[in-house]
Amino acid sequence: MKTAIIYESKHHGNTKKVCDAIAKSQGVKLFDAEAIKGDFPWDEYDTIGFASGISFSKFYNHVTKLASKVPAGKMTFYIYTCAKNDKDFAADIKAIAEANGAIILGTYGCRGFNTFGPLKLIGGMNKSNPDKDELQAAVEFYKDMEAKYEK
Ligand SMILES: Cc1cc2nc3c(=O)[nH]c(=O)nc-3n(C[C@H](O)[C@H](O)[C@H](O)COP(=O)(O)O)c2cc1C
Repeated sequence: MKTAIIYESKHHGNTKKVCDAIAKSQGVKLFDAEAIKGDFPWDEYDTIGFASGISFSKFYNHVTKLASKVPAGKMTFYIYTCAKNDKDFAADIKAIAEANGAIILGTYGCRGFNTFGPLKLIGGMNKSNPDKDELQAAVEFYKDMEAKYEK
């Protein structure tokens, strides 16, 4: 499966850590959403991952904008890091991609270091996240998906 992950990770690089773990062991290609100018080469990849930190319950803007351009029939998956992983924060971006005809393969979310607002004063929360187990779980998520959908 030829895979690209388009990520946006601007708070503490938490989501990038998850993407790096997958890229290192699985050889997927990473693209910083903010650095993509013009058209993305969708045709070069069988599968596209969209990865982001969560801001006010949503994926960041650049990655969301790119998901709104994904071509019909493209296989997609979703990765996020957040303060409290208590709901599917990828629901909105998945609805956007699905409205374009994208195929949704799966979602992985875990905690990430957060110093938003007054949390900064106490040194933040989730200081050691994503941790080793969460990074490994992300790699397993990708491997399971690849085994299921390999072309
Ligand atoms: C402005 C802002 C808003 C946030 N909103 C949420 C939120 O609604 N829910 C949540 O669980 N975490 C929220 N967080 C925490 C981040 O999603 C979390 O720290 C994430 O790991 C950041 O990822 P990044 O380092 O890859 O950008 C917020 C953080 C910031 C700075």
